[in-house]
Amino acid sequence: MQRAHPQYGTILTAPSVLSADFADLASGLARIEEAGGDWVHLDVMDGHFVPNITFGPKMVADIRNRTTLPLDAHLMVSNPDAMIRSFAEAGADNITFHIEASIHAHRTIQNIVAAGARPGLSIVPSTPVAAIGELLGDVFQVLVMTVNPGFGGQSLIPSCVEKVRTLAEIRRSRNLAFHIAVDGGINEETASLVREAGANVLVSGSAFFKSPDPGREVAVLKGMQVA
Ligand code: DX5
Ligand code: ZN
Repeated sequence: MQRAHPQYGTILTAPSVLSADFADLASGLARIEEAGGDWVHLDVMDGHFVPNITFGPKMVADIRNRTTLPLDAHLMVSNPDAMIRSFAEAGADNITFHIEASIHAHRTIQNIVAAGARPGLSIVPSTPVAAIGELLGDVFQVLVMTVNPGFGGQSLIPSCVEKVRTLAEIRRSRNLAFHIAVDGGINEETASLVREAGANVLVSGSAFFKSPDPGREVAVLKGMQVA
């Protein structure tokens, strides 16, 4: 579907507000903008697909009013089809759902496109790349979970990095142009591993929000030389 994406070779960062102060999200958004983050990653959890609850479309709409950065909604929910329209109307630019939560994932992708958003597909650590092989030509991004979803601050699971490598090889050999995003445990130590494997969107929650110098953190995640 999407070929020769202009950002294909560029490393993007998507700081996750999951690690921000939910009672002061405006400050969290300002921190992302001032640091030079590329997208705002929004972790939507329903307490069913994952054992945690975050926020819904109202929060996304309020965030939309506070930033012009692309909003990257990551739906960790059991019934994504029921929520796509409301998140798209709230202003989410990218809507990523889990293959583990969708029986008819091709239709879910179509629903996201019909709602005016860019479709993303995510796999948890126990799901192989083969589970989404038929859909790679239809998505804007693949989000490889590098931890089990539900919480920030976990350690990257090394075997997930091999899935990034597999996806990058498929992207090259099939001449596709989906983004390869990684999510979970991405920090100054692990960023180079996932970039080397072929990831080009790095989601970061705790590392970004705990950093004393978020601008430097973004630069390091992108692999830029910093003093
Ligand atoms: C986890 C979420 C992540 C989370 C990452 O389920 O999908 O986006 O914010 O947090 P860190 O970067 O702290 O692992
Ligand atoms: Zn996420």
